[in-house]
Amino acid sequence: MNEWSSFDTITKGKGIWLIDSKGNKIIDAVGSMWCNVWGHSNPQLVKAITKQSKKIQHSSLFNLTNEPVEKLAKNLIKISPGMNKVFYSDNGSSAMEIAIKMALQYWKNIGEVKKTQIATIENGYHGDTFGAMSVGYVPEFFRKFKKQLFSTIQFPVPNKYRLPKGFTLSDYQNHCLEKIEKRFSKNNDIAAFIMESGAQMAGGAIIYPKDFQKKIRELCKKYDILFVLDEIATGFGRLGSMVQYQDQKSIPDIVAYGKMLTGGYLTMAATLANKKIYDSFSGEFNDWKHLFHGHTYTGNPIAAAVANENLQMYKKYNLIKQVQKTSKIFEKYSQEILDIDIVGDVRHKGMLMGIELVSNKKKKTPIRTKKSINKVFFEEGKKQGIYLRTLGNIVMLVPPLSIQQNELELLLKKTIKTIQVAKSKTF
Ligand SMILES: Cc1ncc(COP(=O)(O)O)c(C=O)c1O
Repeated sequence: MNEWSSFDTITKGKGIWLIDSKGNKIIDAVGSMWCNVWGHSNPQLVKAITKQSKKIQHSSLFNLTNEPVEKLAKNLIKISPGMNKVFYSDNGSSAMEIAIKMALQYWKNIGEVKKTQIATIENGYHGDTFGAMSVGYVPEFFRKFKKQLFSTIQFPVPNKYRLPKGFTLSDYQNHCLEKIEKRFSKNNDIAAFIMESGAQMAGGAIIYPKDFQKKIRELCKKYDILFVLDEIATGFGRLGSMVQYQDQKSIPDIVAYGKMLTGGYLTMAATLANKKIYDSFSGEFNDWKHLFHGHTYTGNPIAAAVANENLQMYKKYNLIKQVQKTSKIFEKYSQEILDIDIVGDVRHKGMLMGIELVSNKKKKTPIRTKKSINKVFFEEGKKQGIYLRTLGNIVMLVPPLSIQQNELELLLKKTIKTIQVAKSKTF
């Protein structure tokens, strides 16, 4: 905390730029915590907010509904193969809490009382509330609460850059899958397998090898275990496809969306379930099969209105194609970044790049500093005109999805300069 005694005040935003109270401009390389789609102050999104805010600003989803959420539910089902119903909340952690509760209660609802365990993969992140922390586990974030977290069954994840000695990537992937199957085949006590879809974000931009997710999905089917995906950070185009699970050929039973759902302008999340899950919750009042979960701002109509506009714009401007094209710029700069002597690995997919910093390339020793690395890069980045945030020793580039090619080139050049200057001054 002592490192962060004062903060710049952001007063305006325009496109990829954030502008502070002194008039300084910085590129939002964090995408305002990975959620910004169209840049800041987009007139169409602002108009959708203004228009809806004149009609009804908030009305509860307890016993009532509203037009924007009804429309949004239809839109979400349309883009989400296999999904049947939508349960709203107002942040990603809550969407995951709901997913966990749905998965656990599903088995109770159908009278299968033995299935109470949750399986996950190591190094996952699903939010900062207790349930979400329990099913994820980034040691640096959650260590202090370990005793209070509920226990889960965790399996290793294949990380191409940090493979155990003697393994190729494909050997290790098979090894991980074998471990999963070995445990799945015992006890019949696992309710659900929960993982981020496509890549682990907070865990350090760990992009899954081909078929890893698909094979876990197949194992879940084989052993009658629910498959729950978290697309909060990786869906909606971040990894280059609208719905990442389609790309991964792994249709889940439950999926959570958040972050980019509203274009990054208002707070809303959604947990979608297939018909099998939904049907298990229907019954007479005294059957007590319904899901006890609700938040004050669940289904906020202004948030839903801007989400609907956002979704329409994805189609209108063919954003996914644009992301696929623009993200090739990452490839162009990868080698130059990798050539910097404190860079051990560069990985990217869609509009995401992770740059792993090491003090010894051969030994892959994660870089350490006296001040937090985050602080070092935040300060140097700011001097170069970018808002940067690191996760441990990994510099994350997660800009607004619609960033233009020349803007991404500028961001990458500034990032290279930042790493070089930070290196000469600090490491
Ligand atoms: C994969 C994933 N799931 C869940 C969350 C939690 O979302 P929120 O911060 O909206 O609670 C995050 C946030 O970064 C995330 O990256």
